[in-house]
Amino acid sequence: MSTLVVVGAQWGDEGKGKVVDALASQADLVARYAGGNNAGHTLVVSGRKIVTHLVPSGCAYPGTLCVLGAGMVIDPEVFRQEITALQKTGMLLGDELRVSLDAHVIFPFHRWLDGSREDDVGGTRIGTTRRGIGPAYEAKAARRGIRVRDLLNPTRLRERLDANAVAVNAELERLGAEDRLDIEAEIARAVGWVVWLKPFLCDTGELVDESIRGGKRVLIEGAQGALLDLDHGTYPYVTSSTTLAGGACAGLGIGPTAINAVWGITKAYTTRVGAGPFPTRLDGELGDLLRGAGDEFGATTGRPRDCGWLDLPALRYAARRNGLTGLCVTKLDVLAQMPKVAICRSYADGVRPGHDEFEAARPEIEFLPGWGAPELAERISEARELEDLPAAARSYLDMISEFTGVPIALVSVGPGRDQTVFIGEAF
Ligand code: IMP
Repeated sequence: MSTLVVVGAQWGDEGKGKVVDALASQADLVARYAGGNNAGHTLVVSGRKIVTHLVPSGCAYPGTLCVLGAGMVIDPEVFRQEITALQKTGMLLGDELRVSLDAHVIFPFHRWLDGSREDDVGGTRIGTTRRGIGPAYEAKAARRGIRVRDLLNPTRLRERLDANAVAVNAELERLGAEDRLDIEAEIARAVGWVVWLKPFLCDTGELVDESIRGGKRVLIEGAQGALLDLDHGTYPYVTSSTTLAGGACAGLGIGPTAINAVWGITKAYTTRVGAGPFPTRLDGELGDLLRGAGDEFGATTGRPRDCGWLDLPALRYAARRNGLTGLCVTKLDVLAQMPKVAICRSYADGVRPGHDEFEAARPEIEFLPGWGAPELAERISEARELEDLPAAARSYLDMISEFTGVPIALVSVGPGRDQTVFIGEAF
């Protein structure tokens, strides 16, 4: 097995950074295929916390190639800050980064549009990260997006900016924003970006394809989660790209036959940021307790995340839409800090994820025996083998696996790299 895709199986923030970091030690190449700096992946290496937004979580291993694929939208300013910060910590020593010439570029005007739309009282508030993700993907679909390769071609860059200026400025004006797209200023900005960006650029589709053909171990890292997918998520409360494993092929430029396995990551409970349906959301004291225990605040925006019990029907939906072959369950130790633990196996009136009625789904909640014991969290966070886990935790994992029809591949029992129980073979 040489190509593994790892995706979020909930509404994002499942702990992809930690899991990909734990698996990346075995990989030769780690690639991202969608999204941009709306993602925030937290790694804890030697007790130090590192958050990446664009660079794949494999960056913590010197020598492991890290690829930003064609399906991504890249804000060069954020990318540069991230590289500098990683270099300061001794990571990204030199030649490990590659950026697709076909990825799309986020300019400041994409951010202005995103933020102004969110502030527009007459609009649908999605609760976006305001990073310009939606407007950049929108321009791509409208065939006036600006690709990384266009930064190298002044004539084409001017044409593309021209194609954007009228519509963008009219919308900014209508929304009452002060900023305007100024073509000369954007060209000057792009010239500055090219100076440092150029050495990273290549045909990453060819690079990934050749790595797979050469028998290299390739780890493909998704962003956000299944329920935020543009086609299969809780539309319109979704991100603007594909978050499912199927998107890895289009986003990188490889065929489905190149993928050997797909692992989905789920927390032992559920969280969501931004607007949109979340049937098992806990309001009140239990929700606050879970947020505190899990430190559930956005890695990108710092927003408090809504928290709730594990939603098994939603997880099974994610497992099927992704074709999962393994499940990685994170934050099991956090769940054990709760005074009681429950799950949802169904919603009232036969509602199912993907149905119109999902927006108002009422979960049927079931409390589980064996939890709520104070020493449980400590025993869980010390486990390194499946056998080390207490019986209540093991039967919890069995139940998840049985319900979704997917074997458990990995369990995360704390933020540290070593706090991981490996069950399945990644490569
Ligand atoms: P956008 O991706 O910034 O356009 O935001 C669209 C929706 O996706 C909002 O509900 C965001 O909160 C959510 N979202 C985007 N990226 C992430 C992420 O990495 N984790 C969790 N939610 C996210």
